[in-house]
Amino acid sequence: MAIRKIAQIGHPVLRETARVLGREELASLDIQRFIDDLIETMRDANGAGLAANQIYQPIAICAIEVKDNPRYPYKPNIPLTVLVNPVVQLIGGERFDNYEGCLSVPNLRGLVPRHLRIRVTGWDRHGNEIDREVAGVTAGTYQHEIDHLNGTLFVDRVTDSRTLCTWTEFERHHRAAFVERITDLVDRVGS
Ligand code: NI
Repeated sequence: MAIRKIAQIGHPVLRETARVLGREELASLDIQRFIDDLIETMRDANGAGLAANQIYQPIAICAIEVKDNPRYPYKPNIPLTVLVNPVVQLIGGERFDNYEGCLSVPNLRGLVPRHLRIRVTGWDRHGNEIDREVAGVTAGTYQHEIDHLNGTLFVDRVTDSRTLCTWTEFERHHRAAFVERITDLVDRVGS
């Protein structure tokens, strides 16, 4: 396993649409090793998730894991999840505002409207079918990572550019109100 370099905003690979994988290719040693590296790189950088594009491979794989994350201490934990060829369907029209950051967008956070409830279909790393409903802050994390596979970054979805801030200014001026709001949301939807 190896820790890989993370592409930064401006690199064209972050704007590519990730290629869908077949089961045979997914089972190959190359791709299985790639997934190990994706997970190791995500953990090393304290990411809540990491998409293949972010380590310079535009293939439709992303990893998500939240385990008492120091970058996002208010996020509910999510067990390690590898999504292959994920597709999102929106459930209902309800949205919430999520303060997001990204390992490919250094030192910037911004408020992104996300759908409160989604259904995600795709495969796990072994090609087994995944079909699950996800809600709340966790649904925001899923949407952020799957966006990467479509060449979209959170900054594209920030509707009010005046919410953009550095991580230090987020801590100083926005964190308290956001965490209060998001804690209420987590209490309501359970994730
Ligand atoms: Ni990201």
